[in-house]
Amino acid sequence: MDGTSIARAAHVLAVVFWIGGVAFVTLVLLPALRGVEPHVRLATFERLERRFGGQAKLAILVAGASGFYMTWQLAAWDRFLDMRFWWMHAMLGVWLLFAFVLFVAEPLFLHAWFHRYAAKEPERSFKLVQFMHYGLLTASVVTTAAAVLGAHGALP
Ligand code: HEM
Repeated sequence: MDGTSIARAAHVLAVVFWIGGVAFVTLVLLPALRGVEPHVRLATFERLERRFGGQAKLAILVAGASGFYMTWQLAAWDRFLDMRFWWMHAMLGVWLLFAFVLFVAEPLFLHAWFHRYAAKEPERSFKLVQFMHYGLLTASVVTTAAAVLGAHGALP
């Protein structure tokens, strides 16, 4: 078994935990919290999302390290200059987006801003969270499907 195969397995496992968690939050947790009293809703959401946040950060690190390792091993850097490999750009884009939100925006300003917004506008802020999660999940699912098809030569 070579290093690229091990990296590929780690990459896919990291994506399963990470995007699977995003799907759970979007399709199960948030709909279950609809109609719950805003104070309880915010506290529950933050408690559960915080637990997932730690795991998602680890998954992002593993997905990024294994992804760059495979790119290096496959000598595939030039794919980033070729739009036929748009699924490589999509992977990098999704990764950068989540990494920015979890490692930079949340600790620096997003968490505090959202807390203030949720206290002032509970319904609107909840709708915004749902909207953002649907957007992130859609981008992640499309990217995952395209990456499998692209990596196995099944995209035009
Ligand atoms: C820094 C970010 C990333 C880099 C550099 C990267 C790089 C790579 C590379 C080089 C491959 C192998 C392609 C091939 O065999 O030709 C791959 C496969 C794959 N990646 Fe990523 N990736 C990144 C992030 C992501 C993200 C965020 C997702 C999911 C949303 C993802 C999902 C996948 C999937 C599903 C495969 C296909 C595995 C297979 O079926 O063989 N990657 N990635």
